[in-house]
Amino acid sequence: MFQTGLLKDRAIAITGGGTGLGRAMALRLADLGAGVLLVGRRQGPLEETAAEIRKRGGRAAWATADVRDFAAVEQAFDLGGTELGSLDSLINNAAGNFLARTENLSPNAFAAVVGIVLQGSFHCTLALGRRWISERRPGHVLNILTTYAASGSPYVVPSASAKAGVLALTRSLSVEWARYRIRVNAIAPGPFPTEGAWSRLVPSAVAEQAWLQQHPMRRFGRQEELADLAAFLLSDHAQYINGECVTIDGGMSACGSGGFSHLLGAPDEFWESLESQRRRSS
Ligand code: HXC
Ligand code: NAP
Repeated sequence: MFQTGLLKDRAIAITGGGTGLGRAMALRLADLGAGVLLVGRRQGPLEETAAEIRKRGGRAAWATADVRDFAAVEQAFDLGGTELGSLDSLINNAAGNFLARTENLSPNAFAAVVGIVLQGSFHCTLALGRRWISERRPGHVLNILTTYAASGSPYVVPSASAKAGVLALTRSLSVEWARYRIRVNAIAPGPFPTEGAWSRLVPSAVAEQAWLQQHPMRRFGRQEELADLAAFLLSDHAQYINGECVTIDGGMSACGSGGFSHLLGAPDEFWESLESQRRRSS
């Protein structure tokens, strides 16, 4: 099914499309014929990814926006529509996350992550959903969650709370908007090495090894594996899939180790060193 032209004539907005998994999905979807709009806060990664897509013969546009700002999101989608034609799909991929003991979090730390993940996904979905409904056009929303959206996880409480909210958004809207021919689905990835996630969530090679040891396949995900799943879910081959959350983690959450419980045994010194590293770098 992954033939050139699978996503011909499609126009897909991807938040956080300049780095990591967003970038991998953008490259794959563009290779399959879609025009992609990359949205994020920093111009550099967006520009670089768009240039790479164009170099490979694909169609790409980019717009800077903070997904916490609804007006900025609307502007970004206006620009994408002008450059690529009407957007027909959205991947809510932008996220914020970090490892922390919850009792040490400030209210603003919680708000920053929930603002990006939950409110940001809502803003983007509302902005495009309204357009599709008023223009009577079908649409597709794909939300990138994590396996701990369903289970919860220690040490990433803002992220777990926000992703659980996006899972509820996925299921709720898939029902409410089915009558408008808008499908809403999600992917729940386990660990996939990216600079953004690893720099914030994997503090050392020892922690990485501990995580890997809990994995039934003894390996993390490959970005192209997730990109192919996204391409399938957005394609016409998946027209009857709606309200679904597909886990892609090599069986890790099935063996009860989707989150950061491996850190429960970490001594206070581990957390103190993490906190002092952060104080030094801020
Ligand atoms: C505790 C922290 C913190 C940390 C920031 N804060 N980092 N608190 N521990 N490590 C607090 C700050 O002190 C501040 O609170 C508040 O959070 C907002 O911080 P800012 O830096 O002003 O916010 P902002 O610039 O908006 O940055 C957002 C961010 C940052 C979430 C903090 O990390 C970010 O931009 N992340 C984007 C990319 C990312 O996180 N990628 C990883 C995705 S991986 P005060 O009270 O001081 O004002 C993922 C799932 C992986 O999501 C799952 C694997 C299985
Ligand atoms: P990443 O590279 O750090 O991706 C996060 C992206 O979100 C960045 O491009 C960032 O760009 C963008 N972003 C952050 N805050 C934003 C904001 N306020 N407005 C607009 N864009 C914003 O990390 P990743 O690993 O690829 O993560 C991608 C997605 O996969 C996330 O939803 C994450 O939760 C999920 N996930 C990842 C893993 C993993 O192991 N990697 C596992 C499970 C789930 P700017 O900073 O330029 O804005």
